[in-house]
Amino acid sequence: TTILVLNGPNLGRLGSREPEVYGAETLADIGDRLAASVPEGVEIDLRQTDDEAELVRWIHEAVDRRTPVVLNPAAFTHYSYALRDAAAQLKTAGVPLVEVHLSNPHAREAFRHTSVISGVATGVIAGFGAESYRLAIDWLLRHP
Ligand code: DQA
Repeated sequence: TTILVLNGPNLGRLGSREPEVYGAETLADIGDRLAASVPEGVEIDLRQTDDEAELVRWIHEAVDRRTPVVLNPAAFTHYSYALRDAAAQLKTAGVPLVEVHLSNPHAREAFRHTSVISGVATGVIAGFGAESYRLAIDWLLRHP
């Protein structure tokens, strides 16, 4: 089994980006720990892009391959209808999508209170730092 763990803009800057909000770990650190924590035979395919088109293509790939997705859409969360429309195809295909956030967007600026992705996600996990990813993967592994 493969789980796609997709990350949107600026998440490649984790470690140095607003560490008081996002923590001191890099995305590679988070990915390494996730990969080490899953059972044999489960592959964590972690990717990051600042490019909306690339993220949309990766979602299409997940639809076509029926690969479960953990998605941190980062700022695209709040305004990317293109990403939402891609994610809606996962829902149609019955492929699970867990939206994750390191921070709790609801406890932050008003523009972060809206997610255009949540309405087509299976569920949302936010506010637990890197553990948000861990919790999402745990759920996916228990609901194959
Ligand atoms: C984020 C929250 C978003 O509001 C922000 O734009 C990000 C990261 C998070 O993981 O907490 O880039 O998705």
